[in-house]
Amino acid sequence: MSSNDETPLKPVVAFENVVKTFGARHVLNQQTFTVNPGELFVVIGPSGTGKSVTLKLISGLLRPTSGTVRVLGEDLSAVTPNQLAALRRKIGFLFQGGAMLGWKTLAENIALPLVEHSSFPTSEIYQRVNDVLREVGLDHAGDLFPSEVSGGMLKRAAFARAIIENPEILLFDEPTSGLDPVMAFTIDALIHRINQTHHAACIVVTHDMAGALRYADRIAFLKEGRFLIVGTPDEIRQSTLPEIKAFLNPEQSEVVYG
Ligand SMILES: Nc1ncnc2c1ncn2[C@@H]1O[C@H](COP(=O)(O)OP(=O)(O)OP(=O)(O)O)[C@@H](O)[C@H]1O
Ligand SMILES: [Mg+2]
Repeated sequence: MSSNDETPLKPVVAFENVVKTFGARHVLNQQTFTVNPGELFVVIGPSGTGKSVTLKLISGLLRPTSGTVRVLGEDLSAVTPNQLAALRRKIGFLFQGGAMLGWKTLAENIALPLVEHSSFPTSEIYQRVNDVLREVGLDHAGDLFPSEVSGGMLKRAAFARAIIENPEILLFDEPTSGLDPVMAFTIDALIHRINQTHHAACIVVTHDMAGALRYADRIAFLKEGRFLIVGTPDEIRQSTLPEIKAFLNPEQSEVVYG
């Protein structure tokens, strides 16, 4: 299914026959795929198909019902709580909705992972906070509270928090939803730049096919708990699958959700 199955690279994420159910509801159904180091891997699919659940399985927030989730070579079901905590520090997560604490400033929110996980002195932590604020274009916004900034600024602050520990894997859950097209483009460009400069593998969940086609290494389309196709932007553009054509050209689509 994937275009680089023969790649010699050791994957940073590998799902093998992953099943995830909630009660009687089957969300992931024998899901198998890999993500390579430094890859920009985009996950697209209709609402409620398990995209956020997939990211939560990678970050260890959820456990598979059966099958294996490997992250940076480790089987998440076989690691101790301490090993899981150490692995999770190598993963940056930009949650759907941002998840900033309202009673802390942006700078304090962004500092949190380092305050919790490191013994660096406060001055060094805030030096690093200033560096990442600059990287996301929020140089002078560190002292503002989440309620005082726009949605686009909040996304960028969540972005800064996700990269502050220099993670090897970055997970983005709908980073551009609810933003105007210019801000969405800015966030896409930021993801692309961080992917290039930090060499972190980025797994991006989005509904934005146009953005995905512009910057993804590979795009995976999730349907009914499994990837229908995993391919390069060119392979996706050339796909004749009705679901893919519906995302590429919704106005000409025969696929209508009930
Ligand atoms: N903790 C949970 N307990 C029970 N059901 C859950 C839980 N998390 C997710 N689900 C269910 O799993 C399904 C997939 O959810 P998920 O959040 O992954 O969808 P999604 O593809 O991210 O959708 P969207 O594009 O709307 O964000 C949904 O039916 C959801 O209700
Ligand atoms: Mg979701």
